[in-house]
Amino acid sequence: MPIDQSEKLAGVAYDVRGPVLREAMRMEQEGHRILRLNIGNPAPFGFEAPDAVLEDVVRNLPLAQGYSDARGLLSARRAVVQYHERLGVGDIDVDDVYLGNGVSELIAIALQALLNNDDEVLIPAPDYPLWTAVVSLCRGRAVHYRCDESAGWLPDLDDIAARIGPRTRALVVINPNNPTGAVYPRELLEGLVDLARRHGLVLFSDEIYDRILYDGATHTATAALAPDVLTLTFNGLSKAYRVAGFRSGWVVVSGPRGDARGYLEGLDILANMRLCANVPGQHAIQPALGEPDAVSGLVLPGGRLLEQRNRAWELLSAIPGVSCVKPLGAMYMFPRLDPAVYPIADDERFVLDLLRAERLLVVQGTGFNWPEPDHFRLVTLPHVDDLTEAIGRIERFLAGYGQ
Ligand SMILES: Cc1ncc(COP(=O)(O)O)c(C=O)c1O
Repeated sequence: MPIDQSEKLAGVAYDVRGPVLREAMRMEQEGHRILRLNIGNPAPFGFEAPDAVLEDVVRNLPLAQGYSDARGLLSARRAVVQYHERLGVGDIDVDDVYLGNGVSELIAIALQALLNNDDEVLIPAPDYPLWTAVVSLCRGRAVHYRCDESAGWLPDLDDIAARIGPRTRALVVINPNNPTGAVYPRELLEGLVDLARRHGLVLFSDEIYDRILYDGATHTATAALAPDVLTLTFNGLSKAYRVAGFRSGWVVVSGPRGDARGYLEGLDILANMRLCANVPGQHAIQPALGEPDAVSGLVLPGGRLLEQRNRAWELLSAIPGVSCVKPLGAMYMFPRLDPAVYPIADDERFVLDLLRAERLLVVQGTGFNWPEPDHFRLVTLPHVDDLTEAIGRIERFLAGYGQ
């Protein structure tokens, strides 16, 4: 008897680590060297955590042998509260913070605790695909609202409003956005909050890139605009603090908790069931959030992330038939391939062909729940020289791919 996977996995896709990666790994086993631009993992590209963070974790390792409280270490949760208070989020304390094994685990817990079968969650397209995948796993329905490339990839409030129905439970905001790098203006966030307010939706705000901002862009915390809407803000140490391997993230619950007692009890049950987040990783939170300059050196002029974003954008934009909204945040490019120049019917096929021809791994746009096969995403983490080489390979490949 074949042993099959659960039906709950039908429709669950996570192409950032999907079939194309398996092919890349097969090629690596054959001895090929693949340039991997598929995943936002800073450490392999030579980014290191601030010394103070590593030192604190090492110093506290002997104290990290046991389980912690299910919500996490008090000192770390206190640091999280202070961080969000500085961003203008009011009326929160340590009991409103849950630490998790990365934001990923907390996305799963937050959605599992909320959704019944066929409940709907509004998610941006393109999205960070874990949101859609977890909604599907919970047997909910991801309803994608379209972000407008011609408007700098900002969501359209009317489009979102038109998709709200009786089963809609929550609105997901990813700001700064992965994969587009869009940073949402305050007025737009006010509009999103207002939709949630009027329709009784829970706001899920994924702000893991809140400190990776370019060209003077400013980030507004959704929760700071939503004191009267139940809001869960997700953040962590994987990106700005470069310790993705520590699996250290948090969620802060703000807004009217009184009406949400049942839901919050569900969150507690799920947090308790996994006992606690990795404790050594929790010890990194307080020193990381206490370092005011931990990230600025990377995103100001001369900083690696900024210089790499600039070069990647210039080089991609110079390729005929390729255009790219300049990202104001995060660490990705989401270029468009003009269908009149590159008539691509299947973008997974396209990235596989690119991989095989040029030994370069990127992710197809449909992997981010973008409905058309005309985009792909690459990370801008490699050094400028490696990015130049990588985009040179893309240009060469495209030259033979067009009409
Ligand atoms: C928007 C977004 N949210 C969440 C995550 C997951 O982060 P973590 O490493 O904290 O699980 C990522 C990782 O790429 C991301 O891009």
